[in-house]
Parts: sequence; C-alpha cells; structure tokens
Amino acid sequence: MIYLDNAATSFPKPQVVKAGVLEWLETGSGSPGRGNHGAALQADRTVMEIRKQLARFFGLRDEWRLVFTYSATDALNLAIQGFVEPGDHVIISGMEHNSVLRPLRHLEKEGIITLTIVPCDEAGYIKLPELLQALNSNTRLVVISHASNVTGTIQPVAEIGRQVREHGAYLLVDAAQTAGVVPVDMEAMHADMIACAGHKGLFGLPGTGLLVIGPRVENIRPLRQGGTGYNSESEFQPANWPEAFEAGTFNMPGIISLGKGLQFIEEQGLNQIARREQELLEMLWDGLTRIPNIRLYGPKPGEPRVAVLSFNIPGWEAEDVAAILQHNYGIQVRAGLHCAPLAHRTMGTHPAGTVRVSPGYFTEPQEIEQLIQAVRNISFTQVNWMLA
Ligand code: ALA
Repeated sequence: MIYLDNAATSFPKPQVVKAGVLEWLETGSGSPGRGNHGAALQADRTVMEIRKQLARFFGLRDEWRLVFTYSATDALNLAIQGFVEPGDHVIISGMEHNSVLRPLRHLEKEGIITLTIVPCDEAGYIKLPELLQALNSNTRLVVISHASNVTGTIQPVAEIGRQVREHGAYLLVDAAQTAGVVPVDMEAMHADMIACAGHKGLFGLPGTGLLVIGPRVENIRPLRQGGTGYNSESEFQPANWPEAFEAGTFNMPGIISLGKGLQFIEEQGLNQIARREQELLEMLWDGLTRIPNIRLYGPKPGEPRVAVLSFNIPGWEAEDVAAILQHNYGIQVRAGLHCAPLAHRTMGTHPAGTVRVSPGYFTEPQEIEQLIQAVRNISFTQVNWMLA
C-alpha cells in the first residue's frame, strides 16, 4: 500500500506517538480535573504541560488561550460561531473549505451576518486589492485558509493580517494543512485566532484539534456547556478560559498524541520537514508534467505552497483515476471535491473535482516514482482506447 493522502490525515504516525498513546492506554487512568486522586492529578499535569508546549509552538504567550477541540472543524465553529455578533460582516477567500463556508453560510441564512467571498487567481492566491476593497465598517472577521487542501496554495497571511488589523478587524487562520509542516506563528502572521487539526501535520490522533486565541480577542461564547471538573457547584458554564470551551471528558490519548507529535516535530526540525515535503512535491510535479495532456492545478514548486497537488487527466473522471490507482497499483489518493467545492469553483474543477496527491514526511521518493508511472500508464491507456 502506498499512502498519498496526508492532506486528509497523516499516516504513518511517528513511533514516539504510537508508543506514547499505547503507554497511556496501558498505564494512564485518570481524567484531568475529575478527582483529587493521584491519577487524575497526573493527567491534569500532563494536559497542562502539553498545552504549554503547543502554545509555545504557535507563538502564544498565555497557554490558557489554547483550547483543545475535537477537530479543525470544531475549532473553526467555535472561532466563528462563538465570535461573530449580529450585524457583523465577514470576509473569506474563494479557496475555503466547507468547515469555514458552512458555518458562515448558516449564519448568513439566519440573517446574523453578511458574507463576502474574495476571488482568487488561477493558482489559488487571494486577490489582495479585492480583499482590501471588501473591508467595510462592519467587517469584524476575515477567515483565510493558510494553505488550500485542494492546491496547496499558501496565502500571504502575514500581509493579510497586517491589513486586517490596521482596519480594526480580526483574522482567523485555518491552519489545517500547515500546522506542523511550515511555521505557523500567531505574531508573525498578525493572526487573532488559529484553528487546526491535530491529526495531520501535528501527527496526532483523529479526534484532535486546536483553537489558538490571541490577546486581542476578549470574548468568545462557548458552543457547548457541561462538566469542566471545576466550580461544580455552579449551574452555569464557567467564564474562565480554557475551561469555558472544554466541557466534557478530555480526549487523553489524543492529547498525549499531540504532545508526542510535537516532540517528534521538534526533534526532526520544522525546516527539515518542510524541505522534505518540498523535495517530494518537486519530484511529483516534475514527473507529472512530463505526462502528455495532464492538467496540474495550483502554484508551481518554489512558489508559496505545501505538498498537496491536484491534477486531472483529460477524458478521465477523477474518481475513476483514484479507483484504478487503488485497485491496480495499491496507491491511495483522494479524488472529488475534497469538502471544498468553493475552491474547486475557483480552480474551474467543479463539480467533477480533481485527483489529489498529498505526500507526507514519511513518503519515500520511490513511492512518488510509482505514482507517476501509474498515472502515466492510466493516461496512455486512455489514448490507446481512443485510438482503437
Ligand atoms: N479536509 C480534509 C481533506 O482535505 C479531510 O481531505
């Protein structure tokens, strides 16, 4: 099996992650904040330590502003639905995922907000002058994916953040495809909130995500109420952060996996991880562009982008190419709209979608070679069939 769908979830996980989770399953028993016995207190300390490590990683000074969520979608919903007020205007790019678009379309349909979608160019980069034009006196929030899950396009978030802040609005960055792959620093990006998944570049388990909340954000309404382990006598959700947002038992194996994933990233070095993925991307791009008629989408290697590459073979349905790659070659990629129909409209690939290849840190160059050869074979099969 050749796994090239790391944009969906990273595989394999580093050994240290697997060992850490297994150790917790075998020996860890406490639930943080639930009881004063040794195991609960130990679990509490573990969560606190991992929260601090993650806060540092994102350039956040106050670790209590880092919230554990169950996915990037969960974090984005909290950041969007918990933050906007009636009458607010929100801006997004034409490359956003449904995890951004759907909560906002919901709020728009309910008459709570107005929404502007700023167009992007053919490589998926946002048109900055049009973003600036869209900012108005009601604009409170701009939501931008750091890198597209369809084309890998990295948006100029630092420049966007600077302009948005100058305007007095707030920037929420969807770092689902970048956290753990390229630097994601709150201050450098002038971001006010960062949402990300834990199970992609951070090498954690599915069921993990994070919301990082910067110092300018003073009020977010919890979307969920319940037990927090503290102030149990109160019938109301506590106001203090992060407890306000973390009702319910913690996903301890997930949080342990995030701590160990971060340890792995720091041992390898983010630069080394980014370099490795860029090398694989270059190889992939170079090999695929040599196949006659193939259509590649998104920026060329060397431009700001991550290793998420979409392509189509004219005359072939994307889903069929993915099915043949799976069944004939044992290669796993994701085809279709990738939960991002808006991005596909921008790229002109809606509704058919694309075949998406996303190598990860553990992908071997020969796996990329096998993929290129398989795509070449499929494309020639079509030519032969058409000539027959
Ligand atoms: N959003 C993830 C993907 O692109 C799940 O596959």
